[in-house]
Amino acid sequence: KIYPVILSGGAGTRLWPLSRAALPKQLLPLISEQTMLQETALRLAGRAGVAAPLVVCGNEHRFLVAEQMREIGIDPLGILLEPVGRNTAPAVAVAANYLRGIDADAMMLVLPADHVIEQVDAFYAAVEQAAALAASGKLATFGIVPTGPETGYGYIQSGQEVAGTGGFAVDRFVEKPDLETAKGFVAAGNFFWNSGMFLFRADRYLAELKEFQPAMAAACEAAIQGDYRDLDFCRLDEAAFASAPSDSIDYAVMEQTRDAVVVPADIGWSDVGSWSALHEVQRGDAQGNVLRGDVYLDNVSGSLVRAESRIVAVVGVQDLVVVETADAVLVAHKDQVQRVKQIVDHLKSKH
Ligand code: GDD
Ligand code: MG
Repeated sequence: KIYPVILSGGAGTRLWPLSRAALPKQLLPLISEQTMLQETALRLAGRAGVAAPLVVCGNEHRFLVAEQMREIGIDPLGILLEPVGRNTAPAVAVAANYLRGIDADAMMLVLPADHVIEQVDAFYAAVEQAAALAASGKLATFGIVPTGPETGYGYIQSGQEVAGTGGFAVDRFVEKPDLETAKGFVAAGNFFWNSGMFLFRADRYLAELKEFQPAMAAACEAAIQGDYRDLDFCRLDEAAFASAPSDSIDYAVMEQTRDAVVVPADIGWSDVGSWSALHEVQRGDAQGNVLRGDVYLDNVSGSLVRAESRIVAVVGVQDLVVVETADAVLVAHKDQVQRVKQIVDHLKSKH
């Protein structure tokens, strides 16, 4: 059986001022009327072989997460609560330990809570391909054909096809290369972006973690003890979990393992990490504007304008991002929205 493990832990700082620590982007309705978390949970719900999801989130978000699942009629297998954030490798490790206690053959489909996937049937087909590989002990990732030398992604150099599976051996996994390296990868042609979604047996992940990150593996095993199976919320042991080194699954495991495979996935995937990405995944109007809320525009094109609490009027500009919330307003050129992260760093140091 495939257990979706939904990671709902990031802060989404590049989507400030909408995304905040108390209400990060995955818990917001960014694209549709449903939140990113809800869309993620619904995407494969009810498909053959797919179990109810396990959500891993920060303790402070537990009620929002539970309420959002209830709203869409999904009864999660459990909600695992992190007392502190330790990045994705430990989050996946505690989920693996949780699942192993329920099903010795559990396969876990790791899903970030904040991605857009437009072609759900194609995605499910890719999951089925990856599941066949995972069943034989592989650690599968889903590869996206790059459209440019993005430095915010992991790159996968694909090798030999694994006969009859549609998947490829991973020759190299390079997490977040610099721009020159990324350009080389895109020009070479045999590289995919790592989508950040993974499928593997829970016991295989834990075995790899034990080999490459023994301290993390031990801490994450100690963090989840006792009988949690009938609990809605599974609270991790704070001292144990906090002692786990903080690292991402990409650096800690995927760059290291010899058993990585990549399944090409042409699924309309996007990591809506920034305002410009959010603008791109939505169909704009005839002028290329994406609007939300009480907005008045005159002679504006290529812009994203979002009003949360007041009327926003924009006149005679192009390619802007304007986001209004009750206590903060962002006005930025669409080409420079990566710098929004620095605003958040600045505000943090000031307050
Ligand atoms: N529960 C939990 N706890 N979730 C977390 C934590 C944590 O401590 N840290 C991050 N997450 C969640 C985020 O909410 C996000 O959904 C997902 O895990 C990935 O984390 P990011 O921080 O967004 O990673 P990234 O975007 O820098 O890089 C990853 O994703 C790229 C594609 O979007 C990597 O896997 C890259 O290789 C990949 O290309
Ligand atoms: Mg991300």
